Amino acid sequence: MNPDGPEITDLLIDVDPDTMQRRPVSKQAVLRALERDGMRWGARVARSLPERDGHLDEAQIDALFVRVHAEMQRLWEEFLQGDRMRQLLVPLLGALRERGHEGTVRIVDVGCGLGYLVRWLTACGDLGAGVHLVGCDYNRALIEAASRYAKDEGLSCDFRVANAFTLEEPATVFISTGVLHHFRGEGLVEFFAQQRHAAAFLHLDIKPSYLAPLGSLLFHVARMREPVSQHDGTQSAVRAHPGTRLLDAARRGAGGLEITLFDGDVEAVPILRTMLGVVGMRADLREPFVRRLGPNAARLGDGA
Ligand SMILES: C[S@@+](CC[C@H](N)C(=O)[O-])C[C@H]1O[C@@H](n2cnc3c(N)ncnc32)[C@H](O)[C@@H]1O
Repeated sequence: MNPDGPEITDLLIDVDPDTMQRRPVSKQAVLRALERDGMRWGARVARSLPERDGHLDEAQIDALFVRVHAEMQRLWEEFLQGDRMRQLLVPLLGALRERGHEGTVRIVDVGCGLGYLVRWLTACGDLGAGVHLVGCDYNRALIEAASRYAKDEGLSCDFRVANAFTLEEPATVFISTGVLHHFRGEGLVEFFAQQRHAAAFLHLDIKPSYLAPLGSLLFHVARMREPVSQHDGTQSAVRAHPGTRLLDAARRGAGGLEITLFDGDVEAVPILRTMLGVVGMRADLREPFVRRLGPNAARLGDGA
């Protein structure tokens, strides 16, 4: 597989980030993009995508996205992703309060998909009063499903079809899971640059290693039913960013914040830590944050 190649889902929906207007996608263009990058497995899967008059069938693609993200939600449940974020978020909220933050802390999940993280944190995060969680995604079908699930679960979080970086009420803290590797090159620097005015950000993504692609392939083939999920889950481990690249991009983009990695160490046998975090915050938050992390503070560092 090609570490610079796309995931299939990156190519299927085209939304203007300023207007949220969705543009039709030609199936031939999807196939050409995958073939150009030598993604033979991806092209084979994409050949059976539903088409109408030369374009991908939007309703069926939306339904596919909901199924693929539901499979991703199962992965996050098994990887205890909500709890991992909570372990970072609770000390950060404490640090914000200690440093005098008054009023609501707005936590915005960038690219929230079906909103698993936001819903989990709202239901089980112990985040205390004065916290408002908002999930944003360009994809209307995912946001409609996320809002429906939150209503069924009786949760007070919000979901928006919106660019997370241009909300009317800006975020105090940005969070995400499984999003970083979708941004490449200067796009990754720009991703962080758009968060430079926030108090902090916490982003979790797959931790790359020589074993991760094989582990991911076995896991996705065994546990996922959608061919698109099997392909994209494996490809995301192939192209996951190493900690050094994330640090460099975050420091170039959001240099005014103090930036470090969580679980960034390169392990000899890389099977215990499946996720890598990029943690950025205002300099004055750093000391109370590290103090409140307790033993988990040992997991911060620049990676090696
Ligand atoms: C892999 S998916 C999200 C996965 C999701 N976080 C999860 O854990 O299930 C990446 C999503 O990011 C969204 N996205 C990328 N940039 C965004 C932005 N600036 N604002 C809102 N959504 C964004 C895309 O629409 C896409 O659906």
